[in-house]
Amino acid sequence: MSSHLDHIYPVFDKMLPREAKEELLGQRGAVIWMYGLSGSGKSTLANLLERRLHEAGRMVKVLDGDNIRSGLNSNLGFSDEDRQENIRRVAEVAKLFSEAGIITITSFITPNNELRDLARGIIGNDDLLEVYVKASFETCAERDPKGLYAKVKAGEVKQFTGKDSAFEEPNNPDLVVDTEALSEEESLSLLLEAVQAKVSA
Ligand code: ADX
Repeated sequence: MSSHLDHIYPVFDKMLPREAKEELLGQRGAVIWMYGLSGSGKSTLANLLERRLHEAGRMVKVLDGDNIRSGLNSNLGFSDEDRQENIRRVAEVAKLFSEAGIITITSFITPNNELRDLARGIIGNDDLLEVYVKASFETCAERDPKGLYAKVKAGEVKQFTGKDSAFEEPNNPDLVVDTEALSEEESLSLLLEAVQAKVSA
């Protein structure tokens, strides 16, 4: 079947190679894909990790669900189809950043294994560190940093992850950060160690 893709001509081979940028930055580009329930600690840890890595001389960019959904993905909601498009676009953007040598930290619920596999397929095994930020629905509801779980309880939020939209436990994350069992500092140490191992040039 013919498609509009038959008539585009990518020129990847003429572009300055990724290695030149990695050499300039003195690091390997990579994607740290952090996922878990809303309120599990993804964004907090992503932002702390970004600061620590920056202080250590690394070039880092965070892509966060709520931010990206207010810009690039503002036309997407929370149906299965829209979540898939959300993750597909973010994985493509993360890939662009990592190919520029940047350590890219994403913070998206990514609620099921099909979506995690989708991201992995786009980014590739070599460039991906998959991190499950683990906390139970009950704990997240207790923390309720954005007041969202209270709204869910009041029936004001539809298709909420962990309630009427499923959250599937992961199959094979590279790292599990259990934010119920670990302090913020302990979680950060685990992450820093795993990331430094992944991006040392
Ligand atoms: S994902 O499922 O597509 O990966 P994403 O991480 O981008 O989700 O967005 C989740 C954020 O959107 C949450 O942290 C929360 O602040 C907000 N949000 C609003 N409505 C919902 C909903 N129905 N389910 C989950 N999160 C929601």
